[in-house]
This record gives sequence, C-alpha cells and structure tokens, in this order.
Amino acid sequence: MESFLIKGGVPLQGEVAISGSKNAALPIMAAALLTGEPCAIRRVPDLSDTRFMVQILESLGAQVKFERGTLSVRAQKIRGYADYDLVRKMRGSICIAGPLLGRLREARISLPGGCIIGARPINLHLKGFEALGAKIKIEGGYVDATAKKLTGSTMFLGGRAGSTVLGTANVMMAAVLADGVTVIESAACEPEVVDLADFLCAMGAKISGAGSPTITVTGVEKLHGAEHEVIPDRIETATFAIAAAATDGEITIRGARADHLRAVIDKLNEAGVSVEKRGANLVVRRKEKLKPADVTTLPYSGFPTDVQAQMTALFTLAPGISIITERIFESRFMHVSELARLGADIEIEGPSAIVKGGRPLSGAPVMASDLRASAALVIAGLAAKGTTQVNRIYHLDRGYERMDAKLRKLGARIQRVEEK
Ligand code: EPZ
Repeated sequence: MESFLIKGGVPLQGEVAISGSKNAALPIMAAALLTGEPCAIRRVPDLSDTRFMVQILESLGAQVKFERGTLSVRAQKIRGYADYDLVRKMRGSICIAGPLLGRLREARISLPGGCIIGARPINLHLKGFEALGAKIKIEGGYVDATAKKLTGSTMFLGGRAGSTVLGTANVMMAAVLADGVTVIESAACEPEVVDLADFLCAMGAKISGAGSPTITVTGVEKLHGAEHEVIPDRIETATFAIAAAATDGEITIRGARADHLRAVIDKLNEAGVSVEKRGANLVVRRKEKLKPADVTTLPYSGFPTDVQAQMTALFTLAPGISIITERIFESRFMHVSELARLGADIEIEGPSAIVKGGRPLSGAPVMASDLRASAALVIAGLAAKGTTQVNRIYHLDRGYERMDAKLRKLGARIQRVEEK
C-alpha cells in the first residue's frame, strides 16, 4: 500500500489544470448503456473509480476503450445482471441500475452496502423505479428491478437529507425510454445532474428542468450514440483552492467553473481568502489573515458535503471558533481525530465539529479513511511544520487524478512511497 510523505510549510505557487469531474463521469459512463450505438466521452479522469466503472461496463458486455481521457463505449449487446463483487466495491456503480432497467426492463445488481460516511440507503432510487412501474425484489444481497413496461409518472424524490444525486440520475436514466412523461420533484440540482442530462439529450432524450428541483422527462422510443465532454471537477477545484489558502500561497486554477462553486467561494471570502475569476481560470490567495467562519453542508447550491473535510482542515489554521455542521451524511468526521494528531483542537458535538483554530500544526503519521477526509489530511500536512505521512492513499486515488504530481508542480514537497 502506498502513502504520501509531505514536508510542509511551502506556500503553493503556480498553475494547476483541473481534471474532468468524477461524479459527472460515472453516471455519464453508465448512460452509454442506454444505446447500442458508439458513444465518445471526453475528459474522463483516470481514477480507480472510473477504471472500476470500465470493468463493470465490460462485465455487462459493452466494448470499452479508455485512452488519454477519452472513453469510447459501444453497448451493442448487454445483459441486465452485473458482477456482485465489482458493484459491491464501488457505491457509485449503483447508477447502472437506471440504464439497465430503462433499456432492458431488468436490472439485477448487488446492494451497495453502507460506507464509512453513512448508511447510504437506496430507498429513493427504488421508490422512483416503482413509480415507473418496476417490480423490486431484494434477495441474497441483490436488488432485482423488472418491468413489463415502464410508464412515466410524477414522483417526489426528497428524503431525510433532501434530494439524492444518484437517485435523481438513476430515475432520469430509467425514464428516458419509458412511455409518457415523468416528473421528478425534489430532484437534485447538482451540476453533475445537469451534465448527465446534457449527455442524455445529445443521445436524443427529451429532458427539461435539469438543475432545478423539478425535472421533466418525456420518454422516447430509442436513443442514439453521442459525443460529450465532462464538466471540470468542482470538488477538485475547491480542494486545490483550499490548499493554496492553507499554505498562504497563490495559485491559478485552469479550466475551473466558478459558477459551480458559489457557496464555497462565498465561504472562502468570508474566511479571508480571495478567489478571483480570470476567464476560465481562478486565482486564489489569502487577502488577509485567515478568519473563522461557520459552515453547514446542504444539497446544491448549498455548501457541498464533499468539501466539508477540506474546509475543516483550513479552519484549524484560522484563529478563533469555527462551527462545521454536516447535514448530509451521518458520520463524515473521520478526519477529525487524524487532524488532532497534527495538533488541531476540534470537538464533535452531535452533527457539528467545533474547531478552535490558530494553533500551528506539526507533522505526524495519519490514516486516510475516505476520499475527502484524505484530501483534508493532505492539506493539513502541506500547512504543518515537519513531515506528515498520509497512509492508505488508495482512498485519494479513487477521486483525485495524479494529485501528488499536480501538487509537486505547485512547489509542494510531496512523495508517493510504499507504506512501511
Ligand atoms: C453523490 O452520492 C456523490 N457521489 C457523493 O460524493 C456526494 O457526497 C453526494 O452525492 C452528495 O452530494 C457520486 O456522485 C458518485 P445522495 P449519492 O444520494 O448520490 C440519503 C465523493 O466524495 N439517501 O445525494 O450516493 C443519503 O444517505 C462522494 O465524491 C437516502 O436516504 O448521495 C444521504 O444522506 C461521497 N436514500 C443523502 O440522501 C436514498 O435512496 C444524500 O445522498 C438515497 C440517498
């Protein structure tokens, strides 16, 4: 297993190019299952998660080529039954269910168990499929969705924490080939849902309202092949912006979408960090001393839960009290005890982390637990005095393309080493 060795204290300087969005690419790759014609998807990030999805598409019978960020998929003859272990390993693969049900009227996939950040049920996905007329059976760790025919209908997809991103994506993909009109209320408004809808429309689907809480899908007979370029990764953009602020550096982030990050930019400004838009680039640096602030994670366009851990790391450096409240996932504070190893002072009170910031951090060995928690540990290590060893970085490789190489280009002293 690999680790990162980070010698901290170097202000990041220079330019970094943002990769395509993991959370947009995964459902878009699955959507290619909706047609037997060739699809070409550009700017797909090279990550363990996207490589997993390639394996899953191939296990269903699709021909797939993935080279230099372009994925060519031809799902001419496919089956509705996915390999148990493959799907079980990556939660995001749940989004093959909608396309399989939509095209084949059957989908049999392993239930994606919970994960370290929360129980993560799929009841809303299944509620949507049933509203379209599917029969759902859960047995032997599998969920079976079958339908003689799918008929459009109006459904409310809001749950305990509000809308569901992959639930909205899955139901949208099942509805594009259904008879009649489907209206999804309390739909997720994330940019990744809009990017998926754009790809589906390029394939000939009829979708309106993506990006708003009400999405309308008018079913069509058949979809055709299409080309698409995935949006830039807003979570990677936020991660690098926060790393620049934490190290008191100045970086230019190339190919970023500021309009996808309004809540994050607003909070960074409040914390004393300037994020200036220059064409398709963002220039990030501190405009004054770091200041504490309160953050509550919410569905889009609120503050993204996938940036909560990185922001928590930043606030350990801001003198004063910051309160971070996690409203989307029940247990997404795994980074807190590891940040404490670097000297941070954070207390957990129910859904909130109370950060007493301003105490300098010092390097130590820490353990990555999940994708975004690992990014927070890297940011803290870059700001800390001395050497930090971040273990189990396979978590990071799931969602960040060549993170260490990009950071080295910005002057960071970071190495990828075999874990001892
Ligand atoms: C997507 O997961 C992202 N993953 C997550 O990013 C992200 O944290 C999440 O959306 C929220 O923004 C991908 O796109 C691959 P949800 P998803 O369904 O769709 C509850 C990362 O770090 N819920 O929007 O699985 C659920 O438990 C990952 O890149 C139900 O109760 O998340 C959660 O509390 C981590 N029933 C809330 O809704 C359901 O049927 C939001 O989950 C579905 C969800």
